[in-house]
Amino acid sequence: EKEGFEHFMLKEIYEQPKAVADTISPRIKNGKIVIDELEMTDEDIKKVSRIQMVACGSAYHVCVCAKYVLEKLAKIPVDVDLASEFRYRNPLMAKDTLVIVVSQSGETADSLAALRESKKKGYKVLGIVNVVGSSIAREADSVFYTWAGPEISVATTKAYSTQLAAVYLIGLLFGKVRGTIKDKEYREYIHELGRLPEKIQKILDEKERIQWLANKYSHTKDVFFIGRGLDYAISLEGSLKLKEISYIHSEAYAAGELKHGTISLIEEGVLVVGAATQPDLFEKEVSNLVEVRSRGACVLGLTSYGNYSIEDIADFTVYVPKTQDVFTTSLAVVPLQLLAYYISVAKGLDVDKPRNLAKSVTVE
Ligand code: F6R
Repeated sequence: EKEGFEHFMLKEIYEQPKAVADTISPRIKNGKIVIDELEMTDEDIKKVSRIQMVACGSAYHVCVCAKYVLEKLAKIPVDVDLASEFRYRNPLMAKDTLVIVVSQSGETADSLAALRESKKKGYKVLGIVNVVGSSIAREADSVFYTWAGPEISVATTKAYSTQLAAVYLIGLLFGKVRGTIKDKEYREYIHELGRLPEKIQKILDEKERIQWLANKYSHTKDVFFIGRGLDYAISLEGSLKLKEISYIHSEAYAAGELKHGTISLIEEGVLVVGAATQPDLFEKEVSNLVEVRSRGACVLGLTSYGNYSIEDIADFTVYVPKTQDVFTTSLAVVPLQLLAYYISVAKGLDVDKPRNLAKSVTVE
């Protein structure tokens, strides 16, 4: 079943170009985004006053990205909550809030409870779900299926990528209907969406460099992932991937938060992965990297081709292809998945079944 790959995780990382294409292409018709399964008229979409995103783990990290993406494209305020927190805090939500629950398995206990809580309060719930017919898919008012196919590895990769694609499609549709995206931009975004699979493939084709870095850093004890904006969102996912399968202590921080405590942990030998793909925040991120480097950290830069000035400060740099700023997360996550994967392999760990973890968390 692994089709020649050593682990399901690597197979699933390699399936991402297809999974993302399968999620996007059925929703683009004659150059327009059409998502029939939302079951929302243009009037319904215009009426949405806020979006409340809820999920656990990596799906929660998709929600953190979604806040930046949806607020930019559709100009709708987005709140993001961990399902385990949301379900018990008696959340106050504005009238006409659309609740979006994101889940690969569709069976995560806390996410399902969050869905039920929202429905009980009378809110419409949209599920972004991978497993057809799962509990969340059945109980949500409408379901956007991510067509990632079965995901076996405990650490999610392709499902995460298709969830991001779902967010882009919803953001573009809402932005178009609500008039917050101009026609020309809309066409450019759709064109660029279609190119994401080949760009992900290009990163996979350059995997040797990540493999080399993984071998070099497999003995590291502490890793900090830092970024701003969408680069913060990607840092959260990179950190979780690393800790869950390589058992290396890692944390993700919004780069601007370092000074408020965490920078005291930076010392000789600590690895800092600095994501800097967002042009408007690039200089700010670089100045944070200067700060950690001057305290002895080894800096691994992650940015888009063209931003070569990062080499002035980074010990090593990984480049991803250029795309629309809002879509870069889909590309930047791939080297981070590969880094975690190859470190786990270098340490001889059980990549697909990390200790203490289950694929589907059906108890709270
Ligand atoms: C991390 C991972 C978990 C899941 C989380 C939610 O690699 O896989 O953090 O993202 O347990 O699971 P779903 O998406 O099935 O609700």
